[in-house]
Amino acid sequence: MLKNVLLGLIVIIVLIQFIPVDRSNPTVTQDVVAPEPVKQVLKNSCYDCHSNETVWPWYSYIAPVSWLVTNDVEEARAHINFSQWDSYNAKKQARIIEEILEEVDIGEMPLPIYLLLHPGAKPQEEDILVLTQWYFSTDAGPDEHAEGEEHEQERTEDN
Ligand code: HEC
Repeated sequence: MLKNVLLGLIVIIVLIQFIPVDRSNPTVTQDVVAPEPVKQVLKNSCYDCHSNETVWPWYSYIAPVSWLVTNDVEEARAHINFSQWDSYNAKKQARIIEEILEEVDIGEMPLPIYLLLHPGAKPQEEDILVLTQWYFSTDAGPDEHAEGEEHEQERTEDN
């Protein structure tokens, strides 16, 4: 009985390896426009999911893990793709730069499970500093927002 169950499992595991999995790296239309140190941080910590330059690890070739990995990459690219920077307008780019800092600051990104397997991808203090400087040096910085509605409102409330 147990032998049959095990045999059945092995057959299933072998069979699911034949289900096609999309591990493609589409064309890079425009790499993220950022200072070199910023690119380095993003490349080291984010590109495996948020770019079209994914380095597919060995476990991405073995079902069912491959399904999880490809699903994460697909979702990540749909949110932010550093290889299709030209697909975002200036406002969206600024929003992304802000989100990057937020997510990294609170340790939500890179995904913790990814860091287990890629400990070297964990952003260090100096990496976060680089991202912070980027945020303040671009349209994403708080100066630009000062002209936004929220601040208008604050000002009127102050009066
Ligand atoms: C292992 C894959 C993986 C890595 C590596 C990774 N991400 Fe993500 N990221 C995802 C996935 C999947 C989503 C979409 C689902 C979610 O929000 O959890 C996402 C979503 C995001 C979002 C949008 C969050 C939201 O709630 O809208 C931001 C911002 C982000 N990632 C930034 C980064 C940054 C910055 C890095 C590198 C420091 C990074 N990610 C590394 C997989 C990854």
